[in-house]
Amino acid sequence: MSTDRRTAGILKKFFNLEVMAVQIYRTQVGALADPAERSMMVSAMKNEEHHRETFRSFLRARGISPSPQWPIYWLVGQVLGRITSLFGRRAVLRGDIAFEDKAAREYSAFLREGAFTEQERAFIGEFLEDEKKHSANWRNLL
Ligand SMILES: [Fe+2]
Ligand SMILES: [Fe+2]
Repeated sequence: MSTDRRTAGILKKFFNLEVMAVQIYRTQVGALADPAERSMMVSAMKNEEHHRETFRSFLRARGISPSPQWPIYWLVGQVLGRITSLFGRRAVLRGDIAFEDKAAREYSAFLREGAFTEQERAFIGEFLEDEKKHSANWRNLL
C-alpha cells in the first residue's frame, strides 16, 4: 500500500501519542488510593495499549517504521505521569482530563486530514470515542 507523506506522518504521530498515553497512566496508578479508581485507570491504560498496538499494526501493514522520536514520547509520558502524581489524586485527574481532551481534538483533526483505509478510519473513529470516554470518566470522579 503506498502512503502519502501526510498520512504516514499522522499514523506515526498517533503511535507516538498512544505510547505517551500508556506511560502516563502506568505511572499514575499508584497515586490513586481507591481500588475502584485504580482499576478504572488500569482499564484506561490497557485501552491505550490496544490503541498503540493497533497503530503499530497499521504502520507495519503500510511498510512504515515508527518515528525515531517515539522514545521521547515514552519519556514525556513518564515525566507527565510522575509530576502529576506528586501533586496527588486531583492533579492526576485534572491532568488526564486535559491530556484526553487534547488527544480527542488531535484525533478529530487527523481523521479529517489523513487518507485512511475504511478499516483504519473505523478504528480511529472508535478510538476517538474511547478518548472522550476516558475524559468523561475522570470528570465524573472530580
Ligand atoms: Fe488512546
Ligand atoms: Fe485516552
